[in-house]
Amino acid sequence: MRKPIIAGNHKMNLTPLQTRNLLTELVKNLIDYDQVEIIVSPPFTSLAMADEVLRATDIQLAAQNVHQAAQGAYTGEVSAKMLKASGCQWVICGHSERRNLFQESNELVNKKIRAVTAMGLKPILCVGETLAERELGQTNQVLARQISGSLQGFQQSDLLELVVAYEPVWAIGTGKTAASADAEAGCQFIRSHLKTQFGPKLADSIRILYGGSVKPGNIKELMAEKNIDGALVGGASLKSADFLAIVKYHE
Ligand code: 13P
Repeated sequence: MRKPIIAGNHKMNLTPLQTRNLLTELVKNLIDYDQVEIIVSPPFTSLAMADEVLRATDIQLAAQNVHQAAQGAYTGEVSAKMLKASGCQWVICGHSERRNLFQESNELVNKKIRAVTAMGLKPILCVGETLAERELGQTNQVLARQISGSLQGFQQSDLLELVVAYEPVWAIGTGKTAASADAEAGCQFIRSHLKTQFGPKLADSIRILYGGSVKPGNIKELMAEKNIDGALVGGASLKSADFLAIVKYHE
């Protein structure tokens, strides 16, 4: 009932030409492939090129960040309207790299999601605990705080297209994938928290992705878990062969 999503977050990698080469390769190998929803998230500078390559395909485009304001004197920032006009359907909000390296708070992430949904774009809300928080036994508390804060004030009807990504910070870019049971525990907690905040109907329909060192070798096991509806892939999304193997995990 929840269609799986495999999303690639390119982070600060690939020039427009490199993005074109990668996406052209994906398109060629994914013609009529409809087992999963596929999303790619190149940097802002590659969005126009990506839109050109993907326009006639089912592969969807996400931005990695957005400014919360509609427009104005915010040098260096990009609005939801600009992203929509550049071909994006999705925006990643509150990635841990934004939270930890650029001091994004739950309050700010909340405003960004508001800007995204107001423009008819779909948010991918990222949450996840640091290693220190995990070792202190605070994982669920952290997830609860991030979800409550980021989604405070929203109505169910605002969040019909919401996707949540559970990305434990200690698993990102480290090669240390969470054991699938731990990934499932995080995703299950997120779903139960969404249930208390927004009711079972919405919570059961929201896709929850796992992210953190997802590779062709571990995707199948992760996807076998009940509450894991897909993956947000960093490093392995930069190589077409790896990303294709992840997309086609059940083959
Ligand atoms: P890696 O797959 O490189 O660990 O990155 C995960 C991530 O942060 C995706 O958003």
